[in-house]
Amino acid sequence: MAKILTLTLNPALDLTVRLAHLQPGAVNRSETLLTHAAGKGVNVAQVLADLGHEVTVGGFLGEDNPQAFDALIARRGFADAFIRVPGETRSNIKIAEQDGRVTDINAPGPQVSEQAQLALLNQLTLIAPGHAAVVVAGSLPRGVSAQWFQSLLVHLKSLGLKVVLDTSGEALRAGIKAGPWLIKPNTEELAEALDCATDSIAQQAQAAERLHAQGVEHVVVSHGAEGVNWFSPGTALHATPPKVSVASTVGAGDSLLAGMLHGLLRFDLPETTLRRATAIAAMAVTQIGFGISDDAQLARLESGVHVRTLTEQ
Ligand SMILES: Nc1ncnc2c1ncn2[C@@H]1O[C@H](COP(=O)(O)OP(=O)(O)OP(=O)(O)O)[C@@H](O)[C@H]1O
Ligand SMILES: [Mg+2]
Repeated sequence: MAKILTLTLNPALDLTVRLAHLQPGAVNRSETLLTHAAGKGVNVAQVLADLGHEVTVGGFLGEDNPQAFDALIARRGFADAFIRVPGETRSNIKIAEQDGRVTDINAPGPQVSEQAQLALLNQLTLIAPGHAAVVVAGSLPRGVSAQWFQSLLVHLKSLGLKVVLDTSGEALRAGIKAGPWLIKPNTEELAEALDCATDSIAQQAQAAERLHAQGVEHVVVSHGAEGVNWFSPGTALHATPPKVSVASTVGAGDSLLAGMLHGLLRFDLPETTLRRATAIAAMAVTQIGFGISDDAQLARLESGVHVRTLTEQ
C-alpha cells in the first residue's frame, strides 16, 4: 500500500442534521445530529485509510477547537502535518432529508496569514518526500490567493509527488495551470473552470483534450447518480453506478476520488479501478457518513456498476 498525503486548506466541522423533510421558516425536529471532523482532504484520507493506505493529513486548522480533528487523527493513525492557525475551524451544517436532498450551510473559516502559508510550504518540503501522491481538496480559506494555491501545487510537483486536485471555481482554474496529475471536477465545476459547455460526451472529451495538453493526465468527471466519465490519453470510460437508496450524498465525490487514486497507484486495470471507485462512491451515498464499512456490500455494489468505453459511441 502507498503512503499518501492529503491537504485540506479549509477544513470544517460537519454538523449533519437528519430529518424527514425540511420546512424552512418552521420549527424542524431532527432525527439525529452528528458532528465530525471533515473537509474534502480529510474525507479522502479516511477512505484511503479504509483501503489500507498510510495517510498523512495536512492543511490549516483553527487552534481554538482542534478536539474533533485531534481525536480523528489519533483514531485513524494519521500522521499530522496540519499548521495550526489562530481562531476556530469553521462549522458546516448539512441538512440531510429522507429523500436524499442535502442542504449545505457553509461558514467561511479563519483567516490564514502569509506566515502560516509559508509555514505550510516549509512543512511540506520536510514531510512530502516519500509520499507517492498528494490529494489537494476543497475550497481556499480566507487569506489564501489562487496564485499562492497554484504555486503550492507547483511546489508539490517539484517534490516528486503525483498531484490530485479536487476544487472548484478560481482555485480549480489556477490549479489546472500547475498541471496536476489528476482532477475530479463534477460537470458544473468543469464547465465553470474551462468556460465551456460539458453537457455532451463530445464536449467533455474536448475539454479533457485541452487539459491533457496542459499536463493533466487524468480527467475524472463526475455527474451524481448518472455516474463518471474518465478521460486519460488513450482511455475514455464511463461508469454507471447501481441504483441505491440515498441516505446522504456527503462524501460521494471524495470517495470516488479515493477509489480512483487507489486503483491508479496499484496499477489495476482501468475498468477495475473505475468500477471499484464508482462502487465506493455509491456506498457513500447509502450512508449518512461514508467509507468502506462492509466488504460484502462493496462487492455487491461493484458487480452492479456498468462500465463501458466512450470511444465506441
Ligand atoms: N444517487 C447516487 N447513486 C449512486 N452513486 C452516486 C449518486 N450520487 C453520486 N454518486 C456517485 O458519486 C460520484 C460523485 O458524485 P457527484 O458527481 O455528485 O460529486 P460532487 O459533485 O463532487 O460531490 P461532492 O464534492 O459534494 O461530494 C458520482 O460520480 C457517482 O459515482
Ligand atoms: Mg466534489
